[in-house]
Amino acid sequence: MSADPRPPALARPLMDAAFLANPYPAYQALRETGPIHWSEEFFGGAWLLTRHADVELVLRDPRFSAQRTGAWVKDREDAPGELKGFQQLFARALLFLDAPDHPRIRKVLNAGFRPDVLQGLAPHIEQVVTELLDRVAHLESFDFIEAVARPLPVRVITLLMGIEQPQHQDFMAWSEDLASFIGEPRPSREQARRAQASLLGMSRYFDCLLALKRKTPGDDLVSRLAQAEARGEIQDGAELLAQCAMLLFAGHETTRHLLGSGLQALLSHPAQWHRLRREPELLPGAVRELLRFDSPVQYTGRRVATDLVLHGQQLRRGDLVLPLIGAASRDPARYLDPDTLDITRSQGSSLAFGSGPHVCMGAALTLMEAKMVFGQLLKRWPGLSLVDAAPRWSDKPAYRGLVMLPLRYQAI
Ligand code: HEM
Repeated sequence: MSADPRPPALARPLMDAAFLANPYPAYQALRETGPIHWSEEFFGGAWLLTRHADVELVLRDPRFSAQRTGAWVKDREDAPGELKGFQQLFARALLFLDAPDHPRIRKVLNAGFRPDVLQGLAPHIEQVVTELLDRVAHLESFDFIEAVARPLPVRVITLLMGIEQPQHQDFMAWSEDLASFIGEPRPSREQARRAQASLLGMSRYFDCLLALKRKTPGDDLVSRLAQAEARGEIQDGAELLAQCAMLLFAGHETTRHLLGSGLQALLSHPAQWHRLRREPELLPGAVRELLRFDSPVQYTGRRVATDLVLHGQQLRRGDLVLPLIGAASRDPARYLDPDTLDITRSQGSSLAFGSGPHVCMGAALTLMEAKMVFGQLLKRWPGLSLVDAAPRWSDKPAYRGLVMLPLRYQAI
């Protein structure tokens, strides 16, 4: 803990109901009052960064460490013993590691995300998208989140991982419990317990699956991990389990939110929706813009690895820093008219998938999935429209997305 006096913490709580519904005015106010702020709302104390250049710097600079899971248990008299077990296991997931462990494990996982592997999966994913849309094709209206955005990501991840008899309902519930805990800046005891129980459920499941894959390996991610363990590239069973649990969780909530808030944004801008229908070649750029416009991951975290000064502020080793990706995505110093959705924007990718050594491994897979969903919707139901004008946003500040998205068809 730093001996330096902190600047005064933010006077008003940042994360009230208005913030969860629309965080962008609060980000703008923060950005305009200074480049760095101290807030006690996040894990008892953290530095907040809102500018694109600073967020990118923190994600790329090794003076900021990815090892940050200690914040989950720090200063918590109510931390149940299980939470410490959870923290110890999950701390070994790629997302929370630095060199040399991080590049060692990333190399193993990389092989499972190669372009040829994704191309091989493409027809299967397209088939799942078709199947999910077929199920609601006879209805006049339906909730897009429950029908497509929630089930699709887990179906895709299980294809990638080579899970042949998936327990989709369990996988979704487990991932959601983990996201509820990890996406909360001050998780409750109940959230901690549920996350722990779900991680245990995942561990038991993967223990059995790994035993199977060791005996009869396939051409999938879990088999690759098991083979890497046999070659000594993965240290032990706990490290292996941590990667499996992370993979199941990493692409679930995030992809769901891209599909949900992305579709909501497009349907709220009918001219852009119809333009996409006429010019489907704009789809890849449109998906990138949707990721910028409402970034599913609003913030991530890093620990200061060595004392340093940033914008005149002394940061001490061990301090928690939160690069606010959602704020960086709307920084006017980086994007022209940042609050305007523009599917033809040509200002490069945003930081929605992160940057630097931890940049999202699932980015190409996500783009493929989103193109398939929006592409099929545009072709099959060009007259799709929103039922509610006021969307209901999730209450997890780290992950921005919709709880429900009721839609209806109109013939056009
Ligand atoms: C890392 C966002 C989908 C796997 C990340 C990070 C971000 C991100 C911001 C970096 C976090 C940090 O630096 O602290 C997203 C978004 C997605 C998405 C917005 C969808 C809209 C996926 C999918 C998968 C996946 C589908 C896999 C099936 C990973 C992994 C990492 C990661 C393994 C850790 C990489 C590392 O630590 O080296 N993602 N992600 N993501 N993502 Fe994604």
